[in-house]
Amino acid sequence: MSATDATTSARTATSDRPGASGAVGPYDRVEVELTVNGVPRAAFVPPRRLLSDFIRHDLELTGTHVGCEHGVCGACTVLLDGQPIRSCLALAVAVDGRELTTIEGLAGPDGELHPVQQGFQDHHGLQCGFCTPGFVLSACGFLAEDPDPDEDTIREGMAGNLCRCTGYAGILQAVKQAAGVLRETGADPCARHAGRAADGAVAAGPESGR
Ligand code: FES
Ligand code: FES
Repeated sequence: MSATDATTSARTATSDRPGASGAVGPYDRVEVELTVNGVPRAAFVPPRRLLSDFIRHDLELTGTHVGCEHGVCGACTVLLDGQPIRSCLALAVAVDGRELTTIEGLAGPDGELHPVQQGFQDHHGLQCGFCTPGFVLSACGFLAEDPDPDEDTIREGMAGNLCRCTGYAGILQAVKQAAGVLRETGADPCARHAGRAADGAVAAGPESGR
């Protein structure tokens, strides 16, 4: 659904500006309903609210970081219906009825790190951490498309995200390790981590239905 379609189809809260004719205006608020990290959420937002601002300010999920706000750095990457997107380039109204995953939606029920997060920790794939949520979610989307990548493919897959600290070597190893773990367990890279079984094995987790 395009942003324009979403603007006209989503529910409008107010339309009381002088001269309003039923069309959604810039001062109106539109109800957006969606599933965020498996939980139904709703909020009234101005039609021009960026998805990144909606996530951080309306949903209060501040793990999504905003860097360039121009679609260049990848820091604001989230998963929309399992596909990585730059949330600074989308409008909140465009995600009405969709399924959104942010960095808060990856760790297991007891806080066990998702295999991609674990890879970043194990291989020092982060320093200041500003770019990390975007990298992790980009890696999840990438591994869902290419579960057995070589190093060149990982470099290509992660090329849309910028890091000013690490030099990328740790990130490369992190994604490589995560790919192996995810292949071994058969878990969906874009789903919340299912946690560990009693014997310490990483559980495969439920199908996400993506
Ligand atoms: S903040 Fe969205 S790509 Fe940089
Ligand atoms: S860890 Fe600092 S920008 Fe990547």
